[in-house]
Amino acid sequence: MPAAILAEDLGKIYVKRRSLREMTRRPFGRAERVTALTGIGFEVRAGEIFGLLGPNGSGKTTLLKILACLVLPNAGRALVDGLDVARHDRAVKRLVGFVTADERSFYWRLTGRENLHFFATLYGLGAAQARTRADELVSAMDLAGVADQQFMSYSSGMKQRLAIARALLHDPPILCLDEPTRSLDPIAAKHLRRFIVEELNARHGRTILLATHNLQEAEEICGRLVVLDRGHVIRQGSVAAITAGLPGRLPRLPDDPRWSLGLERRDGDLARVDAAVDRGGVALSDLLRGILDGGGTIQACSRRESSLQEIFDRIDAGPARPEEP
Ligand SMILES: Nc1ncnc2c1ncn2[C@@H]1O[C@H](COP(=O)(O)OP(=O)(O)OP(=O)(O)O)[C@@H](O)[C@H]1O
Ligand SMILES: [Mg+2]
Repeated sequence: MPAAILAEDLGKIYVKRRSLREMTRRPFGRAERVTALTGIGFEVRAGEIFGLLGPNGSGKTTLLKILACLVLPNAGRALVDGLDVARHDRAVKRLVGFVTADERSFYWRLTGRENLHFFATLYGLGAAQARTRADELVSAMDLAGVADQQFMSYSSGMKQRLAIARALLHDPPILCLDEPTRSLDPIAAKHLRRFIVEELNARHGRTILLATHNLQEAEEICGRLVVLDRGHVIRQGSVAAITAGLPGRLPRLPDDPRWSLGLERRDGDLARVDAAVDRGGVALSDLLRGILDGGGTIQACSRRESSLQEIFDRIDAGPARPEEP
């Protein structure tokens, strides 16, 4: 069985469009070129949740667009279920659903359901089939209550779920999700992650390729991943192997309800840690002692007030959260 996705030495260079003004000023000037991806290679197996982890501008969206046949690579090749994206785009498009982070691609004055009908006809579904499929997806994505409201009235979470519904219209076995939780609050993000794992992947067996810049998100739901940096793959493998092999990995710290830790960034041998710690010096002292006892060295420590997101995260993790309606 071929890999669900196989990328070999894939490269992409964008040629920036020159403005009319620039063309009149410098008619023979060369258009600026941006190298978005270089020598990308990885393999996604059928049925797995595979992560593309990287900071802004690292090439995640470009890579997903290549796999969804929206952008052509300049070098190497990408195969989806054994089919080359550059030569079999129609067949590949049938296999891949692309969920973009860009909500401008919907019609704001149409309802969610009308949007789905419209895109279903673009996928070649007949009117009756489009209606049935839209109804199925509206209830699968928990949008039944708002399906007949205009798209512009939707919350970010609803927009994101409608974007997933749209990508599922033609029932593709592979889903490319571009930062699906980017504009969601932590609780909505957690629900969506659960939906991706339990429904899309486990229940329906879809292969998921998920782009994110959030290491915790990747750790939580991806089995394996590649780490992209400025268009290069800098690491790949299982999440455990990648995080364990990173320089500056924190010594294993004991779980303690007084703190929650997130690894933010690694820079050479340094790990920068963002920790939410209960107020009062005792918890912080114990945390720092834990790092030292585990063989770590503390280079610097500074205090920052919690963001709203972090407070939400902690509330959501706590036991006292009321039931969802
Ligand atoms: N249409 C385009 N024309 C020119 N350059 C582009 C175009 N699209 C992307 N780029 C450039 O390619 C590089 C990779 O961009 P890309 O959007 O793929 O990264 P990303 O990892 O998705 O970033 P983000 O996290 O911000 O979404 C960036 O330098 C970006 O400026
Ligand atoms: Mg992007």
